[in-house]
Amino acid sequence: MNQPIIDLRSDTVTKPTPEMRAAMAAAEVGDDVYAEDPTINRLEARAAEVFGKEAAIFVPTGSMGNQIALRLHTQPGKEVVCEARAHVLDWEMGMAAVFSGCQLRTVAGQRGVLRWQDIEPALSTTGLYYRAQTGLVWIENTHNMAGGTVTPLAVMQELVAGAHDRGLPIHLDGARVFNAAVALGTDVATLTRGFDTVNFCLSKGLCAPVGSMLVGSAADIARARSLRKALGGGMRQAGILAAAGLIALDEMPERLHEDHANAKLLASSLNGVEGVSIDPAEVETNIVIFGVEADAAKFVADLKAAGMLAGAVGPRSVRLVTHRDVDTAACGRAAEIVQQVAAKALAHA
Ligand SMILES: Cc1ncc(COP(=O)(O)O)c(C=O)c1O
Repeated sequence: MNQPIIDLRSDTVTKPTPEMRAAMAAAEVGDDVYAEDPTINRLEARAAEVFGKEAAIFVPTGSMGNQIALRLHTQPGKEVVCEARAHVLDWEMGMAAVFSGCQLRTVAGQRGVLRWQDIEPALSTTGLYYRAQTGLVWIENTHNMAGGTVTPLAVMQELVAGAHDRGLPIHLDGARVFNAAVALGTDVATLTRGFDTVNFCLSKGLCAPVGSMLVGSAADIARARSLRKALGGGMRQAGILAAAGLIALDEMPERLHEDHANAKLLASSLNGVEGVSIDPAEVETNIVIFGVEADAAKFVADLKAAGMLAGAVGPRSVRLVTHRDVDTAACGRAAEIVQQVAAKALAHA
C-alpha cells in the first residue's frame, strides 16, 4: 500500500481540526472593517487577555502583523536592530524599507539568540546628526532559521530592560512564541512581559487555517487598525477565521509538547547517520535543521521522490518542522527515509 507523503516542510501546512471546521461553519459574523464581527472581537479580546496586554488585532499573516508593528514604532530613516537571520530580514520582501522607510541593522546571535550585550554596541541613540538613529529593537522567539531556538525568560527580561533603558521600543516576532513558552515551561504573558508589541501566528503549529495577532497597548492597536487597512488587510466577515483562531489560541498550545518530542525523536534518529550532521541537544522546539554533505536542494528532491517533503534552508542545510498532522510513527518513517537518501547520496558521491 502506498504511504501518504510525509510533509515536514513547515508547521504552516497543518489543516484545521474537525472542531475548527465545525466552529467556522457555525461562526457568528459581521463586517470587521466596521468592527462589527462578534467572533473577531471575541478573538481579539481573548488574545489581549492571554498575553496580558491592553488590546489585540487580527491580521491575515504574521508578515503583516510584523510590518504593522515596525511602522507603529518607527519613522522613515530609522534603524531597526534585529538578528542576522531574522524572518523580517530574510522573508518579508524588503518591506521595512518599502512600508516604513527603515533599514535593518543585523547582529548575529548565538544560534539566533541575542543577548543585550550583543545588541548594545549596534545601537545609535546619541542623536548624532549624520548617523541613522535606532528606532526599534526586534527579537524573534522561537528563532526560525536558527532551528527553533528559544530565548530564555531571563534573557527576554534583560532585552526589555535594555531597550527601555535606552528609550527604545521592543517588538517580539513571536510567530512561534507558544512553542517557546512550552519549551520553557512558562506562559506567554510572562515570557513577553514588557514587550511593546508581540506578533504571534495562529496558522502555524496551532493549526488555524489563516491568521496572526498583534498585541500591545490600546493606543498602538488603535493605530494598527489604520495600518492594517493601508496594507489591504481590512477583512469583512472574517469571523469564520476567528472561530478557528479561538480554538487555536485556547486549545492547541497544550499539545505542542508532542511536536517538540517528535522533533527530538527525529534529531536523535539522525544523530550519527553518515552524511548527516546534527546535534540533538540543539533541538529545543519543533524545528530540526541538519547538515548534509550533498547539495541540499538535490537532497530535498531525493527525499520527495522517496515520500517526504522537507525544506532546503541553505546550500548544505535541510529543515524539518514537526506538527500535528505528522504523528510519531510518521516521524520515525521520515528518519528512515533521510537515512536512505543520505546513504544513496554518499554512494553516488
Ligand atoms: C519567525 C516568523 N515570523 C513571521 C512569519 C510570517 O508569517 P506568515 O507566513 O503568516 O506571513 C514566519 C513564517 O514562517 C516566521 O517563521
